[in-house]
Amino acid sequence: MTKTILATGGAGYIGSHICYELLAAGYQVVVLDDFSNSSAESIKRVARLTNGAPVLIKGDVRDAAILDHVFSENRIDAVIHLAGVKAVGESVQNPQKYYDINVSGSVNLFGSMQRHGVSNVVFSSSATVYGIPEISPLTEDMPANPLNPYGQTKLMVENILRDMTAANPHWRSLLLRYFNPVGAHASGQIGEDPNGIPDNLFPYIAMVANKKQPKLNVFGDDYDTADGTCIRDYIHVVDLARGHVKAVDYLLSDRATDNSAEMVNLGTDQGSSVFQVLKAWEAACGFEIPYRIAPRRAGDAPAYYADSRRAKALLGWQAEYDLARMCADHWHWQSKNPDGYGK
Ligand code: UFG
Repeated sequence: MTKTILATGGAGYIGSHICYELLAAGYQVVVLDDFSNSSAESIKRVARLTNGAPVLIKGDVRDAAILDHVFSENRIDAVIHLAGVKAVGESVQNPQKYYDINVSGSVNLFGSMQRHGVSNVVFSSSATVYGIPEISPLTEDMPANPLNPYGQTKLMVENILRDMTAANPHWRSLLLRYFNPVGAHASGQIGEDPNGIPDNLFPYIAMVANKKQPKLNVFGDDYDTADGTCIRDYIHVVDLARGHVKAVDYLLSDRATDNSAEMVNLGTDQGSSVFQVLKAWEAACGFEIPYRIAPRRAGDAPAYYADSRRAKALLGWQAEYDLARMCADHWHWQSKNPDGYGK
């Protein structure tokens, strides 16, 4: 029988790619999204691309009545919980918003799951929980030390979910720690559509490539790395989305055990510097991307990348796409949709 997955925040950048991959793998999908940083158009396009019929419900995860409605109207087999806010700088300015949406929203969701007997959940966590690591690759057992309210909320929800999974009969959860998701679906139909001027490297470069910003600010070229710029583990959003399908497959199989909450890194195990990313972008678009060296950005870690061996062992997942493909697909989406979904 077809299994149904609820994706909270499913209309967003990562969520829309997950919905595509779930539908392509034969799951039915219900999306709950408040459209605060997303558009219903992404799900319309996912439906067209997959010939699927995802159910789209507008609502906030802090609203218990909406959640109870979603769980009573649909037989949900597993939840992928992506809904939340994610701007590091804003979380420092307005921590209450982050604790409210990310933590209270999650507690509310897990409470509703409990009431409706839904016991499988995949949580969208982040490598940000590792803070500023001294060594890489990062394994899941390395200490967590988030440095801002956003990172704190991710770690708090991991801990809440761990406790609830241990306490509730048949609960199973996976806490997926994403490295830096970038790129877009190969169709160029779905991709990242940030509100306003983006903070992150790929969407910012995309704006420069589209002549919507004059140049990229490279935040520091005096780090203790080979070329002086920071190193991150960029992962293609399609690889990341497929990791979620494997996660759901796993939770719904007899390979998973009840009352277990596993942390799993999703990365490529490769680090790329800001300059390497810039070069790969130039190769993808075929022209130069103007840049200037700017001061370091507060709170940036010099370098880190994943060890994803647990994802491979547990879920049978590993990333396939390289940096060239990430840049090519991101640029394909952005050049075809210079105004994103056009909201
Ligand atoms: N960078 C620039 N110029 C820019 C933007 C970024 O030089 O305009 C540099 C940053 O200094 C950093 C690298 O590019 O060295 C990547 O920066 P991003 O902002 O793209 O990503 P971060 O690694 O800072 O953070 C991202 C997400 C977080 C998440 C974290 C997980 O924004 O939400 O990855 O590791 F938690």
